[in-house]
This record gives sequence, structure tokens and C-alpha cells, in this order.
Amino acid sequence: MAWAWFAFTDLILCIPCLLFLYYLYNNFLVSHPPVNFPIVGMLPSLLANVQQFHDWIANSLLVNGNLYFRGPWFSGMEYFFTSDPANVHHIFTQNFQNYPKGGDFLEIFEVLGDGIFNTDGDSWRFQREKLQLAMSQKSFRTFIAKTTRDKIENALLPFFSQTVEHDRVIDLQDMFSRLSFDMSCILSFGTDPGSLSMDLPVVPFGRAVDDASAAIFYRVSRPAVFWKLLKFLGIGQEKKLAKARVVIDQFIAEAIEKRKHEMNEGKHVCPDLLSSYLNDEDIPNSNEFLRDSVLTFLTAGRDTISSGLSWFFWALSQNRQTEENILRELSSARQNITPKGMITFDPEELDNLVYFKAAFMESLRLFPPVPLNFKAVLKPDILPSGFTLWKGMLSNLHCPLAFDN
Ligand code: HEM
Repeated sequence: MAWAWFAFTDLILCIPCLLFLYYLYNNFLVSHPPVNFPIVGMLPSLLANVQQFHDWIANSLLVNGNLYFRGPWFSGMEYFFTSDPANVHHIFTQNFQNYPKGGDFLEIFEVLGDGIFNTDGDSWRFQREKLQLAMSQKSFRTFIAKTTRDKIENALLPFFSQTVEHDRVIDLQDMFSRLSFDMSCILSFGTDPGSLSMDLPVVPFGRAVDDASAAIFYRVSRPAVFWKLLKFLGIGQEKKLAKARVVIDQFIAEAIEKRKHEMNEGKHVCPDLLSSYLNDEDIPNSNEFLRDSVLTFLTAGRDTISSGLSWFFWALSQNRQTEENILRELSSARQNITPKGMITFDPEELDNLVYFKAAFMESLRLFPPVPLNFKAVLKPDILPSGFTLWKGMLSNLHCPLAFDN
């Protein structure tokens, strides 16, 4: 009987504690600028807001565009967030050498290997030059236009048409994600995984890239010791990442082997990035380097396009007047009618639509597909806004306000 009495009093005592924690959570943590607690620093604020990370950081930057973030003591989590254009300019151009991507970044994004995202100095300069060369070639640009047109005409529009016919509700973000994934795979190594098909298949390679992205975000938003422990124990997000890596590596290795074989046989091959790299004698043709390069290119193009399109259509759904104005402007452009009776437009035609382009740019400004850019700090530096950065910190450039003007 006594134990029941103790349990009851424990429960009674727990209620005010829980109410107090709930009060703390609502009034100091969720949707509030970070609070710097003793010992744990701002980590509780970060964890409480991790689901709306970008909104939370953007709101915290509204006050003056700069924020020092301090994690738990000795965790090494020392970040400086800025959206001040003068700081961004300083970090990206005036004192560029002092802000490499840095070792922490490379560890977090290790799945991308030595691709352009993960390199600094000469290797970065070399890869940038080669990418610019590949992307500026006429054959590659024509290939981009053809791939986009094919996918829109043969996959996206028929899908939409069937959706309307059957009066179904669809997840537009998922559609755009599938569209950009298929397009990025074709442009990177000429393989169409066909994720945007009528039956919306689960493509293991696509799922693996998603799992890897989720694990990377987990790494970014937690102290390194957290994810390193998960990695050591082989559990949680790190377990998913390890599995995803196997699928990714195998899929890309097969695409590279197939392409090398086709080229050795003298067959006509797709003018994609992989072919362009294999045709360039200056570029190492080791499978490892090619894997890192095409995977980086694929990741760079995939989520940016789908995020940009999803936000644009979401913004339109909130602004009926803008939608009508765009439709009116589009009616003045020359239309192509596909064999299935769908309407498409040539890119050159759309180039002249001032209102449409401005609306799209505004959507990119408000909802940037790449809202954060990480930089390490090599030597202590004072930013134009007067804030001091010290060696070992990570500076994070947050876009919504950086591109305000
Ligand atoms: C709305 C679409 C896009 C946005 C907003 C965007 C934004 C960005 C940003 C902010 C960076 C970092 C720049 C830096 O650190 O200097 C970047 C880098 C890069 N992006 Fe994009 N991107 C988009 C689409 C694409 C697409 C479609 C591709 C390729 C298919 C691509 C390929 C790359 C590459 C290769 C880099 C690395 C460049 C470097 O490190 O010098 N991006 N992008």
C-alpha cells in the first residue's frame, strides 16, 4: 500500500515540473531566438526548433542580421550566422582565402567524397574550371534543353493530365522532386531512373540519396560527438547513411563502367557530364574521382530545382492575382502543342516574359533553395559589421536577408 502512496505523491510532484518544462519550452525555446543556457549553451533552443530550422534562424537574424551560436561547453559548436550583405561580400570575395570549407564541413559531407563541394584551393579551382567548361559546351546545353522538354512532355504533363482526369490529390513537392531527380541523373550520367512514372515507384537509388541528405542534415544540426557516437555504434541516421552509401556507390559504379565500356566500343554516347569528363584528358578518369564528381553534380541540381519549383507554386497558390497576371502574360507567348494536345513553351519565348521572371526570382529570394552556406575561419577576422570571428568557428551565411536588396 505504501508504494502506491509514494507513486501517487511522485506523480503529483511531477505535474508542476512538467508544467514548468512546458512553460520553458513554449516561452524560451520553440520559435524564440536562441537562449544561452549554462553548460548546454543554445543546444536546447536548436533541438526545439530543428523541424523549422531555417525559419527559426531567419527570424533570429531579423534583429540585426548576425547571430553567435554557442553549443554545449567543449562541444566545438561555435557558429556565427550572418545575413548581412556586407559580411557575405567580405567572406566570399574580399577575404575569400580566410574562409575555406574546412575540415568539419568535409567530415559532415564525406559521402560526397572529393567532389567540388568538398574541396578548397587548387582542386576546387580545377574542378570549377572543368565544370564551367563542360556546362558551357553547346552540346551540353542542347542536351539540357532536350532532357527537360522530354521529361515535361512525356512524364510530368501526362501525369498531371491523369491526375485531373481522375480528380486525384497529389503531392506537388514529391512530383518536382521526382522530376528533378530523373533529370539530374540523366544530365550527370545518362541514366533515367524513371521515378516520375504513373505508378510513382520507389527507386532505391533515389531513396538512398534522400537518406544520405537526411543524415547530413542530422550531422549539421547536432554536436559532432552525437553523430560520431551513432556512427561508432552503427545505429540511427548513421546506420541509414552507411546503407545508403552502399546503394549510391553501386548504382554510380555501374553507370561509370557501362559508359567506359560504351566508349571503348566506339558507341555513340549521351553528351552528359560523365562523357564530357571521360573525353577530357586533363581529368583523372579513376572511378573514384568520377563518382565524386557526378554525385556532387547530381545533388547540386536535384534539390535546388525541386525546392525552387515547389516554393514558386506554393507562393502562386497564395497569390491568385499573380497567377492571373502570369497566365495573361503567357498567353502572349508562342505555344507548342504536343502530340497529346499539351501546351509547352520554348525557353527563348519565356525569356521575354518580364513579369513571370520577376515573380520567379522573387520566390527564389523569399525561399532560397540553398539557404545556408558554410565556411570555416582560418585566422581571426573582423567583419564589416564589427563582429569578430576566431579560428575554428564556422561562419554560416543565411540567405533570405542576405539577398534582401
Ligand atoms: C535554383 C537553383 C539553384 C540555386 C539557388 C543554387 C545555388 C547554389 C549556391 C548558393 C551555391 C554555393 C556557391 C558557393 O559556395 O560559392 C551553389 C554551388 C553549386 N551549384 Fe548550384 N544552385 C542551383 C542549381 C544548380 C544546378 C541545377 C546545378 C547543376 C546541375 C548546380 C550546380 C552547382 C555546383 C556544381 C556548385 C558548386 C560550385 C562551386 O563550389 O564553385 N546548381 N549553387
